[in-house]
Amino acid sequence: MSFQKEINRRRTFGIISHPDAGKTTLTEKLLLFGGAIQEAGAVKSNKIKKGATSDFMEIERQRGISVATSVLAFEYNGTKINILDTPGHKDFAEDTFRTLTAVDSVIVVIDVAKGVEEQTEKLVEVCRMRNIPMIVFINKLDREGKDAFDLLDEVEQKLNLKVVPLSFPIGMGYEFKGIYNLWEKNINLFSGDSRRNIEETIEISDLSSPDLDKLVGEKSANTLRDEIELVDGIYPDFDKEEYLNGNQQPVFFGSALNNFGVRELLDCFVEIAPKPRPKQSEERLINPDEKNFTGFVFKIHANMDPNHRDRLAFIKIVSGTFERNKPYLHVRHGKKLKFSSPNAFFAEKKEIVDISYPGDIVGLHDTGNFKIGDTLTEGETINYKGIPSFSPEHFRYINNADPLKSKQLYKGIDQLMDEGVAQLFTLELNGRKVIGTVGALQYEVIQYRLEHEYGAKCSYENLNVHKACWVEAEDDKSEEYKEFLRVKQRYLAKDKQGQLVFLADSAFSLQMTQQTYPSIKFHFTSEF
Ligand code: G4P
Repeated sequence: MSFQKEINRRRTFGIISHPDAGKTTLTEKLLLFGGAIQEAGAVKSNKIKKGATSDFMEIERQRGISVATSVLAFEYNGTKINILDTPGHKDFAEDTFRTLTAVDSVIVVIDVAKGVEEQTEKLVEVCRMRNIPMIVFINKLDREGKDAFDLLDEVEQKLNLKVVPLSFPIGMGYEFKGIYNLWEKNINLFSGDSRRNIEETIEISDLSSPDLDKLVGEKSANTLRDEIELVDGIYPDFDKEEYLNGNQQPVFFGSALNNFGVRELLDCFVEIAPKPRPKQSEERLINPDEKNFTGFVFKIHANMDPNHRDRLAFIKIVSGTFERNKPYLHVRHGKKLKFSSPNAFFAEKKEIVDISYPGDIVGLHDTGNFKIGDTLTEGETINYKGIPSFSPEHFRYINNADPLKSKQLYKGIDQLMDEGVAQLFTLELNGRKVIGTVGALQYEVIQYRLEHEYGAKCSYENLNVHKACWVEAEDDKSEEYKEFLRVKQRYLAKDKQGQLVFLADSAFSLQMTQQTYPSIKFHFTSEF
């Protein structure tokens, strides 16, 4: 197959949702359609149920064995589909944000009863800012939920999207009869039998046909006719370009658990979802069909087995082909590296591959060369943008609890930060180290991993910080800036990249500081 055809047939995407909306279930059903797994229950949920460290460790341990859960690849009707796993738990939101830099589109799963939830709002906002094409899947139609029109309104308002329903439910919950597919103009009747793999659909090209009454009963048929008329009146026609530009979001209804409405979603997805897209680097825009390979690290997965302390760096291929044993430039280090066993991921296994194409993800064994955001090329100096850090929510001093192991501690901290587990800030005043995280859970994880993987012990001390603000000076030679540096010295720190950060202890002090030093900008993200 030609290089161009290989690119055109790839779809790399992520599924985002609030925990419990049905992401794992949907993923599993998609894999079933692709024939990538044989039975339901094969995909391990990455959910942290009790919110406990032991839970997280157990998940990580299982993943260590089957890292494949980070990327699930399968073939469907000649399309190569790569699903990137995105943790739903809010404490791991950073991980999800970073993964979103490697997807070409997303599917948003919403629970029909709960509607738009908090995590969905945050994640969709990130996708909207990046104009990532989104398809919405409203799940659990077999249960009593919100009225379809109310829900579509809610999605538009809370998520700030422009929706276009491409399927519409016939009834709901106990009365749920099936789905009318506006995209294919047919009806899929619900039998509530979750063991069914492939559903039968019935062509209904004309909704006024009496066949419809026979299929779903007169009452439901009339309601559907009214509703579809309303849909036609309220919502614009689907426009693929608008979808691809992030201006319009098609919506599907279904029940992942019952494998209902999933095929419709998948068939439409394969047809409309974008092939690998060009990516902006600091130097220039890179097109997937360029001959030379470029790619970037968006995730690093540690091996949790202390006897094998290697890590797996996940690279998204942006352009060209990635070939085994060929030397590539590690741009940040300025040196060439060769990889003898790049891994590709399938639903239940990983395999060494000789060649990978744009849109694919390869896992490279790493002994500490990589950190998140690193770029690999064939020689050109390219730095991919857009793996930002956001201000953490929690801040604590980290102290060495075993003075004989300080070397191990610092190495451990360094590597965990490269993996993106948390952020490190070093105070300007006294060099003390501060760990910033999104959730409290990460502190336990760091402590556990330092001890078990590096043989080091740490303790924490609370630090009152409201937000970390990356500092941008209009003129770093100005008297105002010098005064700021002097007066606020005890609140200043460097992040791991050496960028200056102001650790504001309250919203009020941030506001006052901003007023006193108007020529300085304070950003809540490292990317500005
Ligand atoms: P997540 O990955 O988004 O967190 O959600 P997950 O797929 O794990 O689904 C969360 C719960 O919702 C699961 O039940 C799952 O069985 C259920 N679910 C998913 N899709 C549907 C659906 O279409 N209809 C109904 N009625 N339920 C659905 P659980 O009891 O939390 O887990 P389990 O013990 O059944 O695995």
